[in-house]
This record gives sequence, structure tokens and C-alpha cells, in this order.
Amino acid sequence: MPKRGAFIVIEGLDRSGKSTQAAALLRRLQDAQVSAKLIKFPDRTTPIGKMIDAYLRSESELDDRAIHLLFSANRWELASSIEATLRSGETIICDRYAFSGLAFSASKVRPGSQSYPLLDYDWCRTPDAGLPAPDLTLFLDVSTDAAKARGGYGEERYEREDVQRRVRDVFVRIGDQVEAGGGRWEVVDADESEEAVRDVIWDAAKDLVKGVDAPIEKLWD
Ligand code: TMP
Ligand code: MG
Repeated sequence: MPKRGAFIVIEGLDRSGKSTQAAALLRRLQDAQVSAKLIKFPDRTTPIGKMIDAYLRSESELDDRAIHLLFSANRWELASSIEATLRSGETIICDRYAFSGLAFSASKVRPGSQSYPLLDYDWCRTPDAGLPAPDLTLFLDVSTDAAKARGGYGEERYEREDVQRRVRDVFVRIGDQVEAGGGRWEVVDADESEEAVRDVIWDAAKDLVKGVDAPIEKLWD
């Protein structure tokens, strides 16, 4: 049977260089004649994505559970096309996925509190269970200082230092859980130079992109 494409997810905090690195990996694959495409979540082009976009720009307010479910629905609307692409032999590089969904929602705290969770971690995890699972997740770990040196955070909701610190803590927990479930989660030091990070990512991905024999797993199965 021919091999399927690899599903590679790049996760990280805002200003960690995710989008730059995802684009660099795509170019490297194309140079190596590997059939590959880049997708990104949230996909702001769909009707659900437009609601998410308005929320992130603070043009609308939504209940925290409602927005969490919309982010998940935005992945589910692409799930069958992700599977079809992988089966066709094409590799997918995915800029953010369900782990961002879990990290950003589960790190929310109750009003007036610095640490009391607003939403339960397992409640946040459940809507994404059953999505195609990545073969490899690269977590680009950036320090607050390096993020600041890169021009700081932008204008969107969540682009604040206190939020990013809490999100990072949840990402660490998620990484442990992915590994405990047999998944591959690689922490990449994103304070390093763009070129250095590029090489670390290539080292982690280069064997996978030759094609995968194993079936597509389901997330959190
Ligand atoms: P972006 O900057 O990569 O377009 O992501 C937009 C913001 O949305 C970013 O702060 C992370 C957040 N996010 C969630 O809260 N839940 C999700 O499921 C995803 C994919 C992103
Ligand atoms: Mg952003």
C-alpha cells in the first residue's frame, strides 16, 4: 500500500515564530519534491471562522463556552478534508490545532482571580476528541522576553503577557498528556535564531515526510 502523508502540527504562543516556521518548512518540503500543503487554525475564511475572527478582534462578545465550541467546530469542518489529503499522500503542515484550543480556553480564569479556572480542562478537551491526530506536534516555546524583543504582542484578544504565561503552563500539561498517550510532542526552543529553529524542526520532521505507513490516529483516543 502506498504511504500516506504526514500530519505535522506547529503550536506555540503568540510571537513564537509559528507562521514563519510553518512557511519555511513548506518551502523546504517543496524543494525536496515532497507534496505538502499548509493549513492554519482558526481558518477565518469559513462562516464559523468569521465569527471567531470578530471575537478575536473584540468586535463581538461570546460566552467562553460558545467560543470554545466554535474553535472546535472550525476544526471539525475541515476534518474530512484533512483525512482525504493525508490519504492522497500529501503531507499537511498545520499552524495551530486542537492544542491551542485547549490551552487558550483552559487557561482562562474567573473574573478577579489570577488562578481559579473558568472552564474545566477535560470539558475543554472533549469537543476535539476524534479529530485526526497529528503524527508530530512541534511546540515552539518562546520566553516572554524574546516575545517582547520581537515587537511585543498585537492588538487581538489573548495577546497579553499574563494570558500568554497561563497558556504556556497549560501547553506543558498538554504535552505531557500527548506523550503519555503515545503521541509525539517536541518542545522547540523558539528563543533561538530563525535558522536554528528551522534546523531543529527539519531534524524532527525529515523522516516522517517520507510518508507514513501507520493509520491516521484519532485525537485523545
Ligand atoms: P492566530 O494568531 O494564530 O490566528 O490565532 C488567533 C488566536 O486564537 C490566538 O491567540 C490563539 C487563539 N486560539 C484559540 O483560542 N483557540 C483555538 O482553537 C485556536 C486554534 C486559536
Ligand atoms: Mg495572532
